[in-house]
Amino acid sequence: MATHHDHSAAGTDDAVMTELLDLDGEVLHAYLSEVTAWGRQLAGDPEPRHLLDVGSGTGTGTFALLERFEKADVTALDMSAPYLHHLRNKAHERGVAHRVHTVQADLDAAWPDLGPVDLVWAASSLHHMADPVRTLTDVRTALRPGGLLVAVELDSFPRFLPDDLGIGRPGLEARCHAALAEEHNARLPHLGADWGSLLTRAGFAVETERVFAVDLTPPLPVSTGRYAQLSLRRVRTGLEGRLSADDLAALDALLDDERPDGLLRRGDLHVRTTRTAWAARHP
Ligand SMILES: C[S@@+](CC[C@H](N)C(=O)[O-])C[C@H]1O[C@@H](n2cnc3c(N)ncnc32)[C@H](O)[C@@H]1O
Repeated sequence: MATHHDHSAAGTDDAVMTELLDLDGEVLHAYLSEVTAWGRQLAGDPEPRHLLDVGSGTGTGTFALLERFEKADVTALDMSAPYLHHLRNKAHERGVAHRVHTVQADLDAAWPDLGPVDLVWAASSLHHMADPVRTLTDVRTALRPGGLLVAVELDSFPRFLPDDLGIGRPGLEARCHAALAEEHNARLPHLGADWGSLLTRAGFAVETERVFAVDLTPPLPVSTGRYAQLSLRRVRTGLEGRLSADDLAALDALLDDERPDGLLRRGDLHVRTTRTAWAARHP
């Protein structure tokens, strides 16, 4: 997934990440619906009206929240102008533009003036912040007293490949993930942080924590192949020099658009991932 540094890169990277984030929302739609249902139940009554999606990206969470909280409006906040532009276009297409407000802001620089909100959603965004406790303190201040934060973080990137790929190299995906973890340790130090204690340090009362496991098995929609291809391409960029030449060659073969056993055309992909969600209240 992108870091904020990636967004200074040329438009191609934004276009690919935009497609990947949208596919994430599409392929993992059932999981997202489960998390928003959980958030809705914990938020209680009256139903939250003003929601904030921190690090909204292209709106995966924003649109899931709009579906779940039918009377609410959502402020989608992100540092990326292209993501927010895409999100606004989607809101128009879906006829919900009147319920969506976008704010472009770099939360490492300063918290924008947003007015009080009833519920904050932050999915896979907090680990990108330079100082998560500072940002979480800003989030708490933006929430009305009693308001709820639902923070979701990645335990791991999705896995797609069957054990027997038919092209040799058993264990290829596990080796990719191990190499990726090394790369992440260097580049994204807050990935996998102890969010419960960071939330407490930021003044939140942590109410509960829940692991959501996704395990989608074949047959899956064709978009799964594209999702796997873009995800593993993203993974591939960090693996140069961290994986053997034979593994890299096998990965490149899987990523090839034309090959019949490439990710776009395989019928044996699954999608396995886990995400952990914390629900924390502004006391
Ligand atoms: C992995 S994406 C997650 C997007 C979305 N929440 C989702 O679940 O699909 C992380 C998002 O955080 C945003 N982001 C990273 N650092 C940020 C910062 N300092 N201020 C605002 N947004 C930031 C990125 O632009 C990106 O859209």
